[in-house]
Amino acid sequence: MTEMFVLPKMDAAGSWLAPPERLMLNNDEVHIWCASLEMTSSQVKTMENILSADELSRAGRYYFPKHRDHFIAARGLLRTILGRYAGKNPEDLQFSYGPNGKPELTEETGGNFRFNISHSHGLSLFAVTLNRDAGVDLEYINSDLSVGDLAEQFLSPRELLAFKAVPEHGRPRAFFTAWTRKEACLKAQGRGLSADLRQLEVFPASGCQCKFPEKMKGPGQKESPWLLMDLAVLPEYAAALAVEGNDLQYKFWQWRMPDQTGNKSKLI
Ligand SMILES: CC(C)(COP(=O)(O)OP(=O)(O)OC[C@H]1O[C@@H](n2cnc3c(N)ncnc32)[C@H](O)[C@@H]1OP(=O)(O)O)[C@@H](O)C(=O)NCCC(=O)NCCS
Repeated sequence: MTEMFVLPKMDAAGSWLAPPERLMLNNDEVHIWCASLEMTSSQVKTMENILSADELSRAGRYYFPKHRDHFIAARGLLRTILGRYAGKNPEDLQFSYGPNGKPELTEETGGNFRFNISHSHGLSLFAVTLNRDAGVDLEYINSDLSVGDLAEQFLSPRELLAFKAVPEHGRPRAFFTAWTRKEACLKAQGRGLSADLRQLEVFPASGCQCKFPEKMKGPGQKESPWLLMDLAVLPEYAAALAVEGNDLQYKFWQWRMPDQTGNKSKLI
């Protein structure tokens, strides 16, 4: 049974659309994809068939079958989406990994295309660009977490003041908004979460875009500005994109499996 994807309108930049048959990515474009990871077992099997040996071995290390299936679904979708841009079969794509584990396409299988992915609670986000780095982060807003404690740990003193000014009921979203912005920045640069997140001030931002913080430019980092943007996905999630460059065009695509079922596919 096919369920409709109903993603909210983004903002002036556009809304989540069904992708065209032929995908064209220009140098000044960022394509952002949103997809459910809730798949039937036959869909998971299809995705499994296009994974590499090392990805299958990683999938095999997940303790919970649900997490294993979500990993397979996310990697399978990543290969399928990138294959469409690179004009390659998904199974022929090869990835290499940066010092902190950021995957990228090898030169031979589409090195000009850059991407980043994030998944949380059955949902995934993919950013695809040409020759520019990008990072995405997606988090399910878990209202059971003590966001006050997390805020003390990860927000700068100025951010913490702004966070405490948010009414109690809005704090889970406020914290995860700040968190996803920080993580998107770090992922754009291929850094891990080992960086001191309090050094990276991203909250509150005026409007939906703000400059990538100067402090986070790494050694040898290009001088071009970075943009940070909140992404409207589903009400229970926070998401952000950090991308190198300015004056960019953004396109928001939603991936739908032909016969996708399950709660998450209803949600998106
Ligand atoms: C990258 C990282 C921030 C992702 O955290 P997360 O919230 O659990 O996961 P997300 O769903 O947002 O993103 C996961 C995806 O990011 C990508 N990714 C992995 N490492 C990355 C990095 N250093 N930079 C950018 N993206 C990265 C992968 O595609 C990964 O997907 P996969 O797990 O299916 O392979 C976290 O795993 C991290 O800090 N890793 C680096 C660890 C490190 O620094 N190791 C060095 C030795 S200490």
